[in-house]
Amino acid sequence: MNRNAYIVGTGHHVPERKLTNADLEKIVDTTDEWIVTRTGIRERRICDEQTANSDISSEAARNAMKAAGWKPEDVQMIILGTVTPDYTFPSTAALVADRLGLGHIPAYDFEAGCSGFIYGLIQAKAFIESGLLDRVLVIGADMLTKITNWDDRTTCVLFGDGAGAVAISSEGPGGRLGGFHWGSNGSVGEHLIQPGGGSRNPASAETIEQNLHTIQMDGSRIFKHAVRAMRDACLKALEMDGTPKSEVDLLISHQANLRIIDATARALELQPEQVFINIQKYGNTSAASIPIALDEAVREGTIQKPNTVVLAAFGAGLTWAGIILHWEEGTEGK
Ligand code: UT7
Repeated sequence: MNRNAYIVGTGHHVPERKLTNADLEKIVDTTDEWIVTRTGIRERRICDEQTANSDISSEAARNAMKAAGWKPEDVQMIILGTVTPDYTFPSTAALVADRLGLGHIPAYDFEAGCSGFIYGLIQAKAFIESGLLDRVLVIGADMLTKITNWDDRTTCVLFGDGAGAVAISSEGPGGRLGGFHWGSNGSVGEHLIQPGGGSRNPASAETIEQNLHTIQMDGSRIFKHAVRAMRDACLKALEMDGTPKSEVDLLISHQANLRIIDATARALELQPEQVFINIQKYGNTSAASIPIALDEAVREGTIQKPNTVVLAAFGAGLTWAGIILHWEEGTEGK
C-alpha cells in the first residue's frame, strides 16, 4: 500500500520586540528607502538576551501540535533545522522534546541554512513513507540576530528571529508532501559563513576580536546563486511531481529578498496574488521563514482546498530545496 505524508498542523512563534528600519538608521549608515527598495524589509522581530532558540521553537511546536490535535504521546520524532541552536550540543530538538513532555523520542538538529525547513520536510517524508514512523514534528528556527555584526550595514539590516513548526502524519487530510528537489554546493560555501567558533577556527579572543563569530556574506554573489538555484529547485520539484507550472496555485518562498522572490515567481509564471510574502514584517528568519509563512497562509485562508503549493528555499552551504504540497479537500484550515 502506498503511504503518504501530510502536514496536519502548522504553528509559529516570533518575539514581540520589533526592530524597524528607522531603528537601524540610528545604528548604521543606512536608510529605510535603501532597505525597502533593495530587500522589501520594513521591520523584523528580535529576541531579548535571555531568550534562546529552544524557547521560541517550543512555542512554535506547541502551536503546531494544537492545530493538529496531537497530544505529547502522539509525537514519535522531532527534528529541527537551524544554524543558531541553543548550544553546539546538546541538540535544541532534544531540549524542545523535554520541554514539551514528548518523552524519550528520537530528536536531533540538522543544519542546511535557510533551506533547513524543506530539508526537514523531505526527511520526515522519507521516514513516514518508508513506514518507519507515523507522526513527526519538523521545526525550522533561527536567531540570526544573535550572530549578527551590528557594525556591518550590508548584513545587519537583513535578519530577524523566529520559529515555525509543522506536524506531519501518515494520515491525511492535509498538505500532502509531493515531489521535491534538494542539493548543495560546498565549493562556494565561504560566501555565506560564520567562520569562527567551529573546529576550523575555535572560539578565542582573536576570533571574537575579528568578528569571526558573526555572519559574513557576499550578498550580490549569493543573490545570483539564489535566483538560479530557487528557479531550478521549483522546476525540478514540479517535474518529479508530474505537475505543470500552470497548475501551481501558490508560491511560498524563503523570504530573503523580495527581488529573489519576484524572480522565482516569474520563472513559475505566477500572478502577484499567487505569491505569499511576509518579508516586510519579519526580514530573513533563515530556516524559520517558510514555516512562518506557511502557518500564516494556512491561518489566513490563503491556502484553499484543493491547492497546489510550491515551497522553495536557498541558503548557506550553499544549499537549495523545493517541494510541492497538495493541499487536499477535507483539511480543517488549521
Ligand atoms: O538567506 C540566505 C540567502 N541570502 C540571500 O539570499 C541574500 C542575497 N543577497 C541579497 O539579498 C542582496 O545582495 C543584498 C540585499 C544583501 C544587497 O543588495 P544588492 O543589491 O546586492 O547590493 P550590493 O551588495 O551590490 O550593494 C550595493 C550598494 C553598495 O554601495 P556601492 O559599493 O555601490 O557604493 C553597498 O555598500 O549598496 C551599499 N549598501 C548599503 N547602503 C545602504 C549595502 N548595504 C547597505 C545598507 N544601506 N544597509
